[in-house]
Amino acid sequence: MFSVNLKDKVALVTGAGRGIGRAIAQGLSDAGAVVAVNDIDAPSAALTCGFLHGDTNPYAADVADPQAVQGMVEQVMSDFGRLDILVNNAAVEPFASILEMSIEDWRQAIDVNLSAAFYTSQAAGRIMRDAGGGVIVNIGSIAGHNIPIALRSGYVASKAGLIGFTRECAREFAAYNIRVNTVCPGVIETEMTAHLRDNQAQMAKWLADIPQGRLGIPEDVVGVVLFLCSDGSRYLTGQAINVDGGKVMM
Ligand SMILES: NC(=O)c1ccc[n+]([C@@H]2O[C@H](COP(=O)([O-])OP(=O)(O)OC[C@H]3O[C@@H](n4cnc5c(N)ncnc54)[C@H](O)[C@@H]3O)[C@@H](O)[C@H]2O)c1
Repeated sequence: MFSVNLKDKVALVTGAGRGIGRAIAQGLSDAGAVVAVNDIDAPSAALTCGFLHGDTNPYAADVADPQAVQGMVEQVMSDFGRLDILVNNAAVEPFASILEMSIEDWRQAIDVNLSAAFYTSQAAGRIMRDAGGGVIVNIGSIAGHNIPIALRSGYVASKAGLIGFTRECAREFAAYNIRVNTVCPGVIETEMTAHLRDNQAQMAKWLADIPQGRLGIPEDVVGVVLFLCSDGSRYLTGQAINVDGGKVMM
């Protein structure tokens, strides 16, 4: 694994109760950071903390609720006294055609996958600005670029919006020494994509379009997140970086 030193840094990772978020929390912890673990599901957040080193706390909060986000960020500050790194990872992927999708599902996709990044970036950004800097990494998707996925209108729209929000946030926050980037994974083996992997025909089609010839695993995303959190990427902001085995270039 790519290694960086994040000793003395405090990181908050949303949706870190499983999958890519848990792997990112582990990577940040391995790199020496204190990691605040958010998930809407309290037991999963607590479980992730059990895999981390040193100081860590679970924060059960719905990132789509601006008041809950503000309360969580204040609690992290009260618990650890600083916040240097924010990783916006939590997401939902409602599945339905545009003609059938419920208004609730559409709103949930936009609220959790896009609006939450605004809430967390505002709350954490104020702290980072006052502290003299910080790093925000948003977890987007290649679906937010030019890879529409069938029956995922809310997800695709929210991830495209997240790339736009990243650029806007990077531009505004550069004045405060806060860098903001998005990592866009391809298909990664997690519970979110279990249904995809069950469909042999669809899977064969995806694999044929991935030059590296395999799906990703959560750890494939972690090294890029660590790089973006480190000083090695100090002149890099406002970017959307694909981690997809080469799929987007096909
Ligand atoms: N798995 C993939 O193939 C893939 C591909 C591209 C992008 N991504 C992105 O990577 C990120 C993680 O994906 P994953 O596959 O690990 O997903 P996952 O479904 O396995 O995990 C998502 C986590 O977010 C939590 N969560 C959901 N709603 C929440 C809310 N309102 N507040 C707080 N937590 C909430 C869930 O409880 C869960 O623990 C997401 O942003 C996803 O869009 C995943």
